[in-house]
Amino acid sequence: MTNSATPRSSVLDRVLVLEMVRVTEAAAIGASSLIGRGDEKAADHAAVEAMRAALNELAMDGTVVIGEGERDEAPMLFIGEKVGSAQGTGPKIDIALDPLEGTTITAKAGPNALAVLAVAEEGNLLNAPDVYMDKLAVGPGYPDGIIDLAKSPTENVRAVAAAKGVEPNEIIVCVLDRPRHAGLIAELRGLGCGVVLIGDGDVAGVIAVTNEDTTIDLYMGQGGAPEGVLAAAALRCVGGQFNGRLVFRNDDERARARRWGIEDLAKIYTRDELAKGDCIFAATGVTDGSLLKGVKRHKNGVMTTDSVVMRASSGTVRWVKGEHRR
Ligand code: FBP
Repeated sequence: MTNSATPRSSVLDRVLVLEMVRVTEAAAIGASSLIGRGDEKAADHAAVEAMRAALNELAMDGTVVIGEGERDEAPMLFIGEKVGSAQGTGPKIDIALDPLEGTTITAKAGPNALAVLAVAEEGNLLNAPDVYMDKLAVGPGYPDGIIDLAKSPTENVRAVAAAKGVEPNEIIVCVLDRPRHAGLIAELRGLGCGVVLIGDGDVAGVIAVTNEDTTIDLYMGQGGAPEGVLAAAALRCVGGQFNGRLVFRNDDERARARRWGIEDLAKIYTRDELAKGDCIFAATGVTDGSLLKGVKRHKNGVMTTDSVVMRASSGTVRWVKGEHRR
């Protein structure tokens, strides 16, 4: 089946969709021995090493556009790093990745840590600097433009409530539990909304709006910009709307954005401006969450993984259960 709105990319056809899952599985398994061990850095390092090794086995000419940081701060999977075994000959692919989305969650064995990856043709993923992003997301089935980051949280809640045919106090909003969101949370509670506070992991938080079982209608608040691009890529595949606006805390962050070619620093990006054209999104659960189960280590070295891989042009969503034997 094809999604007529998004033409199929023959370049992405050459990157086997299921190969993407092998990459996120490798990262999740890498991090899993460190779940609950209180060491965020070690968990992240294990995920990064495993993801990088798996990416380098793929026959592609890949470039990391969202990664672990800039070259001088991240030794592996830095922005601009070339990955894949077919440099110069294979399909040119841009990759947004987060080998461990939820380092603190993993260290504390909390919910919703993921290994995530999005791939698209060269030039189709926003090269977002590692700054914050204001995020606003709603699930599929609403009129285009129903959410607008230029409007207040109250206006957005009212618009979604009216379209859903409910009162604002029946709307459920997911928000990262941070002091910077105190005003937002007070405004939402003032409307009578249910506020689902998450400790970390806003890629899963945004994707939750697409799953009716979570009962979450909207995602609001500030999180990492790289995670915003990854979440937008996921919504490209399963539907839903997303608005994102970069947030700069100082001149260094502004300069960083300009270095990546971003001129309009106040721009509100729509989902399709963050992730254009055909794209593939893959995630494997590290710890149990609303989207996926975490890695489980069983007797005799058997490990099970739970992953999802989806593609924008076809709208296909595949749930992949893996059994791995060492
Ligand atoms: P890490 O995996 O880097 O720990 O990120 C977790 C996360 O919660 C993201 O999901 C979110 O976008 C970001 O951190 C929020 O940043 P902060 O913790 O600074 O509020």
